Amino acid sequence: MRVLILGADGYLGWPTCMYFSQRGHEVIGVDNYFRRNAAVELDCEPLLPTPNLIQRAKVWEELTGKKINIHIGDATNYTFLLQIFKEYKPEAVIHYAEQPSAPYSMINRDKAAFTLQNNLVSTLNIVYAVKETNPDCHIIKLGTMGEYGTPNIDIEEGWLEIEHKERKDKFLFPRQASSLYHTTKVQDTDMLWFYVRTWGIRVTDLMQGPVYGISTDEADIDSRLVPNFNYDEIFGTVLNRFIVQAIANYPLTVYGKGGQIRGYLNLKDTMQCVYLSATQPAKNGELRIFNQVTETFSVNELADKVYTVGKELGYNIKVDHIENPRKEKEEHYYNPKYTGLLELGLKPNYLTDEVLAGIFRVVERYKDRINREAIFRGIKWK
Ligand SMILES: NC(=O)c1ccc[n+]([C@@H]2O[C@H](COP(=O)([O-])OP(=O)(O)OC[C@H]3O[C@@H](n4cnc5c(N)ncnc54)[C@H](O)[C@@H]3O)[C@@H](O)[C@H]2O)c1
Repeated sequence: MRVLILGADGYLGWPTCMYFSQRGHEVIGVDNYFRRNAAVELDCEPLLPTPNLIQRAKVWEELTGKKINIHIGDATNYTFLLQIFKEYKPEAVIHYAEQPSAPYSMINRDKAAFTLQNNLVSTLNIVYAVKETNPDCHIIKLGTMGEYGTPNIDIEEGWLEIEHKERKDKFLFPRQASSLYHTTKVQDTDMLWFYVRTWGIRVTDLMQGPVYGISTDEADIDSRLVPNFNYDEIFGTVLNRFIVQAIANYPLTVYGKGGQIRGYLNLKDTMQCVYLSATQPAKNGELRIFNQVTETFSVNELADKVYTVGKELGYNIKVDHIENPRKEKEEHYYNPKYTGLLELGLKPNYLTDEVLAGIFRVVERYKDRINREAIFRGIKWK
C-alpha cells in the first residue's frame, strides 16, 4: 500500500511511518515542523533529543534498508499538498497534521485562530486532494474522545440512534468539546461527514484518547528513532507528564479533585489501531468511527499508579491537587464503548506496573534535560 502520513514528524506520526515501512508499505511522510517551532517558541522542547524528519528517515534507511519519502511542507497549502497526491497517488492518507494541544488553543486569540485555520483547512485540503486525484483513497483522520465531552449517558462509537415522536434515525453522537482545540476536531468530523454524504469518499475517524509511552518495536531499534516525548503542560499528555514530574521531584499536578475520567491507550496500540484501519478500510460513502482507547482511568488513579511504581523504584513522590486551570467536570459519569477496533483485531497493551516502570527507566536516562519551568504554567480557560 502507498500510505501518505501527514504530521509525520510528530509524537504519533514518526512511529507510524516506521510501523508501515517495516511492514513493507511505501510511506510518504509530510510535516511542516509546526510542532518543533512551537516548542522552541514556548520553551517546551521534548525530553529526548530527536533528529529532524529528514535525518530520522536517513537513519531508518541506513538501519533497515527501507526508504521513507519525506517532504517538508504545509498541509494547509493546497498547491503543495495536491502535488504530493499527484506524485505518489496514495491509497490511504493518515491525517495527524493538526495543532493537537487544548492549552495551546486557549493561550490567546491568535493561537485559537491558528488552531482553527490549521486544523480545518488541512482537513478540507485532504478531502479536495482525494476528490481530485483518487476518490477511492481512504482518509484516516485522528479525532479525539474529547469531542464527546463527558455526557451523563454512555458514549457510543460515533453514532446514536434516536427515537423521537415514534420515529427513528441515526445521528452523529452529540459532541460537546471542552476546548477550542477539541471544537476543531468536532468541526472536522462534521466536515468529513458532509463530504462523505456529498461526494461518497471513504473515511475512518478515530476518536482517540490521550496516548502514553515512548516505546515501539521500531523506535526501540536505535535511540535516534525515538518519538518526541513532551512532558510540559502544553504538549505533554498526562501520564507522560506525571512520570517526568515524579523523576524531577515535582509534585504531581492533579487538576482540582482529580475525578476526571478519560480513556487512554499505549503508543503501541495507536500504531495497531491505525494499521488495522488502513488494512481494513471504510467503504466508499462511509464515515466509520471508532473510539480508540483501551481502558479508562481517573486522573487520581493515574497519579496513584505513578506513585506506587515510583515508590518501588525509590522515588519519594508527592501528589498536589492544584486549582484547575481548565473548565471541566471534576467528578462525572463516563462509560465509553470501544469494541470496534477490538473486532478489527486490536490486541491491547494495558497499563501494567511493568509498562509504567519501562517509561520511568527511559525518562531516568534523560532526567538532566528536564526543564522544570515547562512543567506547569497554568494556562487558564477563563
Ligand atoms: N497524542 C495524543 O495523545 C493524541 C490524542 C488524541 C488525538 N490526537 C491527535 O493525533 C494527531 C497527532 O498527534 P500528536 O500527538 O502526534 O501531535 P504532534 O504535534 O506531535 O504531531 C502533529 C504533527 O503535525 C505537524 N503539523 C501540524 N500542522 C501541520 C500542517 N499544517 N502541515 C504539515 N504538518 C503539520 C506538526 O509539526 C507535528 O509534527 C493530532 O491530530 C492530535 O490531535 C493525539
